[in-house]
Amino acid sequence: MIIVHTPDADERRFYLQQFRQALPGKSFVSSDDAYSNDKIDTAIVWRPQPDFFAQFNNLKAIFALGAGVDALVARQDIADDVELYRLCDAGMGAQMVEYVRYGVLHWQRQMYRYQHLQFHQRWLPQPVRRAADVRVCVLGLGELGEQVVKALVADGYRVSGWSRTMTVIDGVHAASGLPALDELLTQADVVVSLLPLTTQTKHLLDSRRLSLLPEGTAVINASRGAIIDENALLNALNEERLAFALLDVFEHEPLVASHPFWSHPRVMITPHVAAVTVAEEAVKQIAENIEKRARGEPIDGVVDGKSGY
Ligand code: NDP
Ligand code: OXD
Repeated sequence: MIIVHTPDADERRFYLQQFRQALPGKSFVSSDDAYSNDKIDTAIVWRPQPDFFAQFNNLKAIFALGAGVDALVARQDIADDVELYRLCDAGMGAQMVEYVRYGVLHWQRQMYRYQHLQFHQRWLPQPVRRAADVRVCVLGLGELGEQVVKALVADGYRVSGWSRTMTVIDGVHAASGLPALDELLTQADVVVSLLPLTTQTKHLLDSRRLSLLPEGTAVINASRGAIIDENALLNALNEERLAFALLDVFEHEPLVASHPFWSHPRVMITPHVAAVTVAEEAVKQIAENIEKRARGEPIDGVVDGKSGY
């Protein structure tokens, strides 16, 4: 039996109905229903409350209704032998491309400056930057990062990409390893994080690495807040070493009202919406994966416990 759980009750009912339709041969319950804990062998979840999984003794597989699984990987209530799967693209790639393009254009066309100038009623044209001169460094070349770099190459930017294993993509200067990261950062106009949060990537962009960026660089964080040391980022912005930051994700969400990012003139905030799960795509992908798993076929989106993504 498969349990469906999301924090919002309407959303839970919606997903339950969609999964029942997609897999009529399987039996589904939501966390609102009465069920026998021992019968649950599969869970489809988004942000379940602490200890949610502790009630299930026979759980074999968890399917996340999202691409990032750092919160699930970090939990103590999931037994080591439970298989964990994440969404691969599922409609999020196209949204992430739009989000990053927006951030890159904001820097390239100096919108952060014009916003400030408008506030002071100043008419002051800035030099035009050509796409071919703009160096964009994308950290993470997975399901989302790959689509983003391809779009940026098509737009004419000078694109470099950094990943754990060397990933060759047409038109992208590829690199891997920490020394190569430092080198890339010294040559970036815009840095984009599309890395998963793991023990290796936490605070990867710390004060030392942020200080490697050329003056006037922009940072776009659309993956997980804790990839960047937020205090170090704030200092770099306060000292005007960074031109601006487009931040969708934060170490603690929702971002508290008192956080200095909210009113910072060089920060643009969005509330974790860079790429949202497209329900129809997610249901289709998870339903197919449940069937493949039952047939013993390989599935995309397996989370490797060791690497944490
Ligand atoms: P993938 O797992 O497909 O890709 C991850 C990429 O990061 C891979 O290229 C991987 O390298 C690289 N990577 C992982 N660890 C390291 C490391 N230690 N050093 C260098 N590179 C590393 O993830 P997705 O592209 O699907 O998603 C990326 C992240 O985006 C998610 O984990 C999630 O946190 C976030 N996200 C945010 C959303 C939002 O709305 N803000 C929406 C959806 C996702 P390799 O290729 O070698 O494995
Ligand atoms: C995700 C997210 O990981 O929404 O899917 O952040």
